[in-house]
Amino acid sequence: MPETDWNSLNTRVDFLDWTSPAPLFISCMTGGAIGALSFNRELALAAAQLGLAIGTGSIRVLLHHPEYLDDFRLKQWAPAVPLLANIGAVVIRDEDSTRIIELVKQIGADALVIHLNPGQELFQADGDRDFRGVRTALAAFINTAPFPVIVKETGFGIAPDEVDFLLSAGAAYVDIAGSGGANWIRVEAYRSGNSAIAPEFDHWGYRSSELLEQLSDYPGKILASGGLRNGTDCAKALALGATLCGMATPLARAVSLGGHEAVVEHLGNTIQSLKSIMLLTGSATIQDLRRPGVLVKKNRC
Ligand SMILES: Cc1cc2nc3c(=O)[nH]c(=O)nc-3n(C[C@H](O)[C@H](O)[C@H](O)COP(=O)(O)O)c2cc1C
Repeated sequence: MPETDWNSLNTRVDFLDWTSPAPLFISCMTGGAIGALSFNRELALAAAQLGLAIGTGSIRVLLHHPEYLDDFRLKQWAPAVPLLANIGAVVIRDEDSTRIIELVKQIGADALVIHLNPGQELFQADGDRDFRGVRTALAAFINTAPFPVIVKETGFGIAPDEVDFLLSAGAAYVDIAGSGGANWIRVEAYRSGNSAIAPEFDHWGYRSSELLEQLSDYPGKILASGGLRNGTDCAKALALGATLCGMATPLARAVSLGGHEAVVEHLGNTIQSLKSIMLLTGSATIQDLRRPGVLVKKNRC
């Protein structure tokens, strides 16, 4: 007896200084690569159509190739949604922060997402190997940045004590980007042709669901991503306390199969499925999904 009306379901959530019509965002993907402009345009057109926040790929390339600036100016297609710039934590440690702040402003972003990706770097032929000093540099940058800073992983999750550190340092949100989806150790090992030990890391990292369960003390501060594929996955993440749910791989696939229309279709189905779960659990709002009894854990055999 859901006692809920489909037409009254409220999927809106607050994010940054803005209200998102649905608890979803397009995760950071692909910057400065060949074809990135058209890829990003398709994602941005979908973001604009659905009114969802969108992340750019890493803007690191702009430090040496300002000619790629237009690839990242996604507001040209999605002027009314939050734009999240993206850069690696090691770049924050190694580069002049005023230069990075200037780039974020130049692309018109509303916030900067800093990614942690030691697993990916380690398996990249020319990737970073030295991660000392990143914590201190991140805390200092967050403290001086004139815009909100979000910290994410890229598919292996962030340890709960490190989430605590980042939020205490002033991060606006932490996007856990846990395991269960894209595995960048596998991707980089494949790219470098050196994949002998990569399969040992197939289950590396924190699964998104286990992290969310451990992060219930940070309401309104946790974004969920990593392996979320549909509305059911998102409903579970929201029930576990996430503010917004992000997807990368399914949307990259959608762009290549059918451009922005396929992205809109995938995200539209996700919203349809999320609303179905809201109705079936008698949850009129996203907050209602978090009440006891909605998510029931079953013992796996
Ligand atoms: C094609 C592609 C490009 C990506 N590029 C970036 C990037 O530039 N910066 C970043 O922080 N994460 C990047 N990611 C990682 C995603 O943002 C996400 O954290 C990760 O893929 C896990 O989510 P998923 O399982 O939905 O793919 C990329 C992912 C994909 C699929």
